[in-house]
Amino acid sequence: MKKQIGILTSGGDCPGLNAAIRGVARAGQKHFRMHFLGFRDGFRGLVQDRTLELTPNTLSGILTDGGTILGTSRDKPHKMPIGSKVRDMTDAAVETYHRHHLDALVCIGGGGTQKNALRLTEEGLNVVTLPKTIDNDVAMTDVTFGFDTALNTVTEAIDRLHSTATSHHRIIVLEVMGHRAGWLALGAGIAGGADVVLIPEIPYDVEVAAHAVRRRTRAGKMFSIVVVAEGAMSQDQAATVASLVSAKDEAKKKPEKRKASEQLDRFHREHIDHTLKLTHDLEELTGQESRMTILGHLQRGGTPSAADRVLATRLGTACAELLNDGTHGVMVAARGDGVEPVPLEDVAGKKNLVPPDHPWVASARRVGVCLGDQI
Ligand code: F6P
Repeated sequence: MKKQIGILTSGGDCPGLNAAIRGVARAGQKHFRMHFLGFRDGFRGLVQDRTLELTPNTLSGILTDGGTILGTSRDKPHKMPIGSKVRDMTDAAVETYHRHHLDALVCIGGGGTQKNALRLTEEGLNVVTLPKTIDNDVAMTDVTFGFDTALNTVTEAIDRLHSTATSHHRIIVLEVMGHRAGWLALGAGIAGGADVVLIPEIPYDVEVAAHAVRRRTRAGKMFSIVVVAEGAMSQDQAATVASLVSAKDEAKKKPEKRKASEQLDRFHREHIDHTLKLTHDLEELTGQESRMTILGHLQRGGTPSAADRVLATRLGTACAELLNDGTHGVMVAARGDGVEPVPLEDVAGKKNLVPPDHPWVASARRVGVCLGDQI
């Protein structure tokens, strides 16, 4: 009997999703005679049973395309907006799985997807996941696909900003995605030769960043490039977050917990314009004209890099092999040159953040990048 496999892509899109879909399905079709059914727009398509047949024809020519032929969404089966309400649609997702007599479901996504996938395994579904995201923040894998392409995109942006910053003798502050992780900002900051890099894992003092800029001016370097991760925080802001998090964790009663968590949400919502404030503060503290650039979703677009195509194909084809063996309840992690199936319990709810003693941090400091914490 041919195995019936479902595939969906969930969460923010990234380059390499199509390469991964193709990797799983091609290997499954060619070597294990599997049949693949795609679900559109992430878990919403699973709940609503909206499908796309993944035939060899559908898979042809997609390796180099950005985005995902299946579409994606951030919807979760257990908390799905339906009209003006949010409903638990887990049963509908489970029904679709059984209606199509699936042997397994492949969920390609980031941190949120790992959690949703684990919930579905608790409902008795056979699920295997693949780690994607430009943020590189999925736990238990060396790297996620999408990251390398975004790293190249951001590095190219820094290269371009250099010439205009030099010509106008300005500070240019570049805000980079990454959610609560600093991988993209730090990696691109090193690759692009940024002067200051601010990441969430190392709370900064704006005075220290301004000092680094002034020191450059004294040395005759009349421009500076400051790369700031979207989740970066000043030391004061980080202290506020830490106290809100501990209030939430320590709250014994539900209303207290809800209040702390609402305050935390408000903080993150209001934190959205911190790069603008940082740009103004740097201009004021240094007396040097400053401009801000937010790269935004440009970082998620475009054709995947060769490294991401190889990684997505490597993980995808290994996934097909695991499906053939009947392995499930795992994420197919990148480990060195190979892959490793990691139990979803060990991945869900965890994040891969930049450790302050990571070699990238040390290298950045050694070449004189200011990370906002030390003069
Ligand atoms: O998770 C990928 C990511 O691009 C983050 O870097 C960013 O914080 C977020 O998604 C943006 O999400 P959305 O596209 O839903 O606004």
